Amino acid sequence: MFNRPRMHRSRPPLPGSASRRTVLWPFVISLTVVLMVSAVKQEDFKTCAQSGFCTRNRAYAELASGTPDWESPFRLDPTSLQLEDGVLTGDLIHAPTSSSSSAESGGALNAGYTIEVHLLDSDAVRVRMNERDPKRRRYDGLQKSVLVKPLVSSTQYDQLGRDEDGLFTINYGSRRQNSARIRFAPFQIEFLADGVSTLVLNEGGLLKIEAAQVWSDVADTRTRTPMERRLEQGMWSERFKDIIDTKPRGPESFGLDITFPDIEDVYGIPEHASSLSLKTTRGPGAQYNEPYRLYNLDVFEYEIDSPMALYGSIPFMLGHSKDKTAGVFWMNAAETWIDIEKIESTSGSSRRTTRTHWYSEAGVLDLFVFLGPTHRDIFKQYSSLVGTTALPQSFSIGYHQCRWNYISQKDVIEVDAGFETHEIPYDVLWLDIEHTNGKRYFTWDPKQFPDPFDMQLHLANKGRKMVTIIDPHIKMDRGYHISKEATDKSLFVMNNHLKPFDGWCWPGSSQWIDFENPRAKDWWASQFSYDRYKGSTNTLFTWNDMNEPSVFTGPEITLPKDAMHYNRVEHRSIHNIYGAMFHAATAQGLSTRNETLQRPFVLSRAFFAGSQRYGSVWTGDNKASWEHFEVAAPMLLTIGLAGLPFSGADVGGFFGDPEPELLTRWYQAGAFYPFFRAHAHLDSKRREPWLFGEPYTSQIRAAIRTRYSLLPFWYTLFQEASMDGVPIIRPMFFEFPSDEATYRMEDQFMVGEALLVKPVTTAGATQSEVYFAGNEKWFEFYDGQVKQGPGVQSVSSPAYKIPVYQRAGTIVPKRETPRRSSKEMENDPFTLVVALDSKGEAYGRLYLDDGESYEYSRGDYILREFKVQGSVLTSRSLNRQESETEWSFIRRYSSLKVERIVFQGLSEPVSRVVIDGRPTVVESWHDVAGKQHVVIVSRANLSIGQDWSVSLS
Ligand SMILES: *[C@@H]1O[C@H](CO)[C@@H](O)[C@H](O)[C@H]1NC(C)=O
Ligand SMILES: *[C@@H]1O[C@H](CO)[C@@H](O)[C@H](O)[C@H]1NC(C)=O
Repeated sequence: MFNRPRMHRSRPPLPGSASRRTVLWPFVISLTVVLMVSAVKQEDFKTCAQSGFCTRNRAYAELASGTPDWESPFRLDPTSLQLEDGVLTGDLIHAPTSSSSSAESGGALNAGYTIEVHLLDSDAVRVRMNERDPKRRRYDGLQKSVLVKPLVSSTQYDQLGRDEDGLFTINYGSRRQNSARIRFAPFQIEFLADGVSTLVLNEGGLLKIEAAQVWSDVADTRTRTPMERRLEQGMWSERFKDIIDTKPRGPESFGLDITFPDIEDVYGIPEHASSLSLKTTRGPGAQYNEPYRLYNLDVFEYEIDSPMALYGSIPFMLGHSKDKTAGVFWMNAAETWIDIEKIESTSGSSRRTTRTHWYSEAGVLDLFVFLGPTHRDIFKQYSSLVGTTALPQSFSIGYHQCRWNYISQKDVIEVDAGFETHEIPYDVLWLDIEHTNGKRYFTWDPKQFPDPFDMQLHLANKGRKMVTIIDPHIKMDRGYHISKEATDKSLFVMNNHLKPFDGWCWPGSSQWIDFENPRAKDWWASQFSYDRYKGSTNTLFTWNDMNEPSVFTGPEITLPKDAMHYNRVEHRSIHNIYGAMFHAATAQGLSTRNETLQRPFVLSRAFFAGSQRYGSVWTGDNKASWEHFEVAAPMLLTIGLAGLPFSGADVGGFFGDPEPELLTRWYQAGAFYPFFRAHAHLDSKRREPWLFGEPYTSQIRAAIRTRYSLLPFWYTLFQEASMDGVPIIRPMFFEFPSDEATYRMEDQFMVGEALLVKPVTTAGATQSEVYFAGNEKWFEFYDGQVKQGPGVQSVSSPAYKIPVYQRAGTIVPKRETPRRSSKEMENDPFTLVVALDSKGEAYGRLYLDDGESYEYSRGDYILREFKVQGSVLTSRSLNRQESETEWSFIRRYSSLKVERIVFQGLSEPVSRVVIDGRPTVVESWHDVAGKQHVVIVSRANLSIGQDWSVSLS
């Protein structure tokens, strides 16, 4: 949903004479101007030069690089160090040497800082730095919303003390495989994995902490050099487009450089419409002029190939090279910018070193370092802190049909009927803001949606669901129960005068719920109970939009930074997590509304680290263009690498009208996004899948049916992600971590470890270049044609399909009968598609549960392992406990059948297939071109819940 409508219906009436706010006029003008343009308005958003703390920290970095023999002015006091119960503490002293003395401007500097290094039981290390006696306490309340559980210190470490180089070393980890080497002056921490330097803090000497100070501390009259002026820019207030950020707390930013020695590729820090392997923003030949920015914003029709901030922020970065991997999580929800530079290695390696420089506007310096040793271990370590993806409702991995707007109940019934007529499966029909009574969420337009129960029942009868939009801006209206209650309970965000903040959004004058207030979450959640949300049923789910939050009249279209939350927390300190707190409260509401706990489904536009615990996200308001389609893949891969696997991009593009070929190609790729939804702007032409005629309808139908045939595989991947925190769609390098050719590959990806997908993102293309990694075979998904890796090959990609290949050594579970919805497939038999590797082996899994409750967490699920070894396919249970009789799901479904088994990649002809002792008739043939034999068992009649074997000879 974009925020500056170009049509009349949704446009909020402009503020009238009632406005008391002097700042309103400029907005009225800028709103009007925006109505006439269609591309991103760059000037609505700050550049680094327009942001005080960004300028100050970047100027500091320039000062450092322009100063010969620059040394960090921070040193650690050796006499202060203490290591107890896995926590090292010490005093950091800011003591400028001559080389750094000119950095002394920028006000009085507190000389005393503390450092804590926590060795954690997950093998992660937490490093915190703060002022010792701050004049103003910094916001340090993030962990309650971000971390899933209290951290546990490790007992697995040895303190080696100071060595002859004066370094203080701690070895840690279960094998003591990791070390932290601390240098006192200038202060630096180097992390080593198995003796190899892997991540270094403050190697570039850019650590800077702006000590809280009062105005009088710095109100001297010295004349400043240009550099000094930049080092002090915007410390006490800052104006952007006629809105003044009053900064009552003064400057409190901090920055630090984090170096990945001999690692050329770093990934993560979504959300940006940029490449998978992050680009350089500093140094000779920098690819971007601006740093990557993390600040949740409503940026419409966003620019491609840009480090500009978008809707979500996850300050997690992964560095990966052939022989080492490291991760860092910068736990801060204030505005953050990250510079990236590639410098020559100092170790003599031929690879360059990546140096990153992170700076945040407020809060405390609090980061986590993960050393793996493998990239998979890093995801386990990171997700043990911030949580893994919640196992979703199984319907939600089906196909979603959305548009701004399905305008009436009649429209809904007709669209639903179109799917029936054209035999296209779908699971969810979505209603955007127009379904409400005057943009009052939790209500229905009484004219257009007179009987929401009936409408939901109509869909539910076919196993389908509905989603309605619920946004965080609350219409100011005493007659609206949500507005009245929140006012009476003082649950709204305040302005800098501690009066309820009001701003402009869809409903006109609006207010925002303060989720920092501990009472707000439960109150908001309670609004989803069936009796409060009139017209809702247990098949109605939720979409949280505009939760950056988007405020049409606010600075950069969001809340002012000096707005106040509960307990005098400035919005500045928690901006990037606001949307995730809203998402969490909504998810809580959905899961607790029923007498039995149900899994929620909530889609959110804004996100932060940990949002995976609440539901799915999408990439916001993209455009119906080939470029936006193409950038969706690296964006989704990046979001997944930051621990949030359940994501999608609007299929077809939100703005504009896709030509039918683009729409079809997008469906073909979207069928392999974890979250698969088509969505369209109010001004765009209708584009339900059958509206373009043949051959498009058939091609789109085939794409959606492919998704449905693979739902068992997808659901199994979600279960794996919910255990290990691994992404569901994965960059090639994730599966082929030592193949350097994959490190920047972003135009093809893996789904789990089994399927390779190459979207076709060029108009008219019927041939695609696909990189087949590894030394094994790849089997074309639709016709079984064989490709042998490694290397790039040109393959055909006619209009009706995109390249999808199954990797040798894998087994993919499918359900092959098309149905209306995922619900209607739940009694269908399975097909196992086996792709043998050169050793004649393959492996796969299948996870099943009731798809909606939490009974699985008590053991009511089926988890099978399929394995081919020595010409025998076996199925065995991986359930943690075998207590089948007491569980309703297991009781009902363990006799579901595996009906068909396809064996590909056999090196010898097969003359006999024996299923649990019974010889069976099969189809088989010799594929001469593919140098393989294929065998298909079509009536296997094997129960999914039992152990069995199929032997080939
Ligand atoms: C609660 O959930 C169960 C299971 O989905 C459903 O059968 C029941 O009708 C729900 N209760 C209400 C009041 O909708
Ligand atoms: C399939 O197996 C079931 C037992 O699981 C058996 O009762 C049934 O007769 C079998 N069907 C066929 C066609 O072999």
